[in-house]
Amino acid sequence: MKKFKIGVVGIRRGGTYVKVFHKSERSEIAAICDLSEHNLEASAEEIGLSDKQCYQDYDKFLDNDLDAIVVGTPIPFHEEQVVKAIKSGKAVFSEVTMANTVEGCRNIWETVKSSGQKYMLGENYIYLDFIQKWKKYIDDGRIGRIHYAEAEYVHDIRERLYDTGTRPGESYWRTYRPPIHYCTHCLGPLMYLLSGDRVTKATAWGNKATIVEDQTLWPSTIDMQVGLFETKEGRIVKILRSQVTPRQKHIVTYQVMGTEGFLESGRTAGYNTVGTRYFAGSDKRAVPMTCNGTCLETPKSLRFGGHGTSDYFGGQAFLDYLEFGKEPFTTVDRAAELTLPGIIAHETALSGGVWKDVPHFD
Ligand SMILES: NC(=O)c1ccc[n+]([C@@H]2O[C@H](COP(=O)([O-])OP(=O)(O)OC[C@H]3O[C@@H](n4cnc5c(N)ncnc54)[C@H](O)[C@@H]3O)[C@@H](O)[C@H]2O)c1
Repeated sequence: MKKFKIGVVGIRRGGTYVKVFHKSERSEIAAICDLSEHNLEASAEEIGLSDKQCYQDYDKFLDNDLDAIVVGTPIPFHEEQVVKAIKSGKAVFSEVTMANTVEGCRNIWETVKSSGQKYMLGENYIYLDFIQKWKKYIDDGRIGRIHYAEAEYVHDIRERLYDTGTRPGESYWRTYRPPIHYCTHCLGPLMYLLSGDRVTKATAWGNKATIVEDQTLWPSTIDMQVGLFETKEGRIVKILRSQVTPRQKHIVTYQVMGTEGFLESGRTAGYNTVGTRYFAGSDKRAVPMTCNGTCLETPKSLRFGGHGTSDYFGGQAFLDYLEFGKEPFTTVDRAAELTLPGIIAHETALSGGVWKDVPHFD
């Protein structure tokens, strides 16, 4: 069996996919790249790579004979690295989000389209166990026609936004990421549940930083942003995002409401294993749903990656794309559809919440 040769750049979060593609029977890690020698050494040792397979220079890394690149670097590098990888004839699996500007998304989209290469956005929350279950409920018509969907992702990551030791000193790349920019973990599963409906208009509120005080406003430390979105099919979508609110443990929650009932996830972490429930027209009251943090259908030997094995399923979807041409949900079109609403929403938050059209590439 042919093993796809995968290269991974950015091996902190990307390190998850080093494991996913190293352990799969269908792929092998042929090279890795990171600015940090320490991170390279640790990853190489873990899976037994030689020095020759480790690169600090991205262009030299790309010179390798590779089928695909996993771009796991900070978002500001995605545009340049994805475009270079596609132009050098490699397929790309990119970490979220697609890019941090409308122009960056367009550049990636046009490069992928004109090359005919494969690109997949690694929006892993789509592959969470309960989202997969909900999809079946919805497709079976048990919730009726959905007219409203919402998601909340509130995760206090202040230590990853700026140097909490020397504040107001060194800042990190996330310093400049407004909360609503990072919206694909919310919009991804919702648009998947809504069978690929897309956002056409956006507005958002939230431009104050009171939790992190005594500093020039950094986009990341805005207390909270709430985005409201209208979809092509006329649905309302609401998204709440914060990176600084001390909500312990963090929450990633979803709710959809339809003509026949609703689906609602629990408000605990652990991938909403507690409190998730549904109501369908034929039921007298809301019914708890059994949801597992780890998808139990995954063989024990394959329960790696993180996020309740959703990383494993995302990796498999990419390998299916490479091997059989089976399109994943998060193609390059959808990558833009899931990223652009957050970029536009932040723009509207800065201008007092006026509604704006979300660009659509075609
Ligand atoms: N899907 C998820 O659940 C999830 C979770 C966390 C992060 N992410 C995404 O993963 C990406 C990386 O996030 P992170 O948390 O690992 O960031 P990080 O800053 O913690 O680590 C980035 C890594 O990339 C390396 N790096 C930085 N710039 C580089 C460059 N130009 N070339 C090569 N290597 C470079 C760094 O040395 C480091 O090892 C981002 O796109 C982020 O949005 C996704």
